Amino acid sequence: MVGNTFGRIFKVTTCGESYAGGFRKNLDVPQELFGGLMTIVDGVPPGIKLTASFVQNELDKRRPGRTKLDTPRNERDKVYIFSGVMEDDITTGAPVGMIISNAVVEDEHLNKHKSYKEFVRPGQAGYTFFKKYGQFADNIGAGRASGRETAARVAGGAVAKAVLDNMGIDVIAFITEIHGIKAENVTYETAKANYQKNEINCPDLKASELMTKELLKIKEEGDSCGGVVEIIARGVPAGLGEPVFDKLQATLSHAIMSIGAIKAVEFGDGFEHTKMRGSQSNDTPYIDEETRRVRFKTNRAGGILGGISNGEDIRIRVGVKPTPTINISQDTVNMYKEENVNIEFNTRNDPCICTRIYPVCEAMVRIALLDALYVAKGYRAISQNIDVRWDKL
Ligand SMILES: Cc1cc2nc3c(=O)[nH]c(=O)nc-3n(C[C@H](O)[C@H](O)[C@H](O)COP(=O)(O)O)c2cc1C
Repeated sequence: MVGNTFGRIFKVTTCGESYAGGFRKNLDVPQELFGGLMTIVDGVPPGIKLTASFVQNELDKRRPGRTKLDTPRNERDKVYIFSGVMEDDITTGAPVGMIISNAVVEDEHLNKHKSYKEFVRPGQAGYTFFKKYGQFADNIGAGRASGRETAARVAGGAVAKAVLDNMGIDVIAFITEIHGIKAENVTYETAKANYQKNEINCPDLKASELMTKELLKIKEEGDSCGGVVEIIARGVPAGLGEPVFDKLQATLSHAIMSIGAIKAVEFGDGFEHTKMRGSQSNDTPYIDEETRRVRFKTNRAGGILGGISNGEDIRIRVGVKPTPTINISQDTVNMYKEENVNIEFNTRNDPCICTRIYPVCEAMVRIALLDALYVAKGYRAISQNIDVRWDKL
């Protein structure tokens, strides 16, 4: 398997599966590490305050088993920082190493997953895993493709957050649509004011009530649904991203599309642009009296022009598919016996992944932005003796 690291200078590497260790009880692994994950973060500057509770706070946003809308799995996701910080919780500049334990791996849950090993779970990664890695694949609970892997990214994203907080760059994600029920008039300000005010983390408090009702109904029926997560990054300076292969929207898309269950990504007004005229789609630039900088009267571009950030908010919309595992019988196949079957995969799952995926979106956007900042600032530092008229990064 390749591709377990994201980033060019600020790099996050993860390892660990859904339940690794839980079915290898002969190994001398403490129970806490059955389903344990590890994150190594390279490119951390020295002198940044980084406590385990800061990382834990981010992990707790993603952790299942907290609300009536979540899967009842109670994974503890307790993080230990074992390298890269000194006693006073200040980073040294060395790689930050983190282990995330998973105290609750119940035999009953594990055995259910093991018994499904031969079957293709519709909408899940098991079939493609089997085709690629054969019988040696760890696909218990989706193995490496499991949503659980994303806890390790959230830990990496927390390190990026600790750095970005020092630079005044804020990334926030929230839910604006569940199964067709839409939030209205959501701005950065309302998203900040109402962040996590309800179990769905939808800033439109009225719409969130309808969404909750819908989710509970869908859960009752054993089914699942999809939705939309929006991300806003504020305080990103102009100049991040490159004009060709490494356009900022390309690296951000890579970061976001690497999260399971995400099927679509839009920047700014996204697909709405296809219905507009140029005169409607263009954002009008003007000189801001106070700062004497170029600003834009609207932000339909979503903060990126020609692959480079323009200093406005970066606005991203993400389409999340329904949770593949449902408690309804489905037609599928037994891969080992090569036969058609009808089976109900009776495992515990979220009726909608949106409520757990938004912290992962925040994490991946933070990682991609910090990495883009390293590249842009490094390039600027090397070029600093040339007399070019440019803004401060
Ligand atoms: C945070 C998170 C939690 C997830 N939880 C579940 C789950 O409980 N059950 C499930 O079937 N899929 C879950 N998924 C989705 C699957 O991992 C994903 O749909 C699957 O690997 C197939 O990949 P694809 O949908 O990107 O093609 C979760 C994904 C994420 C990011």
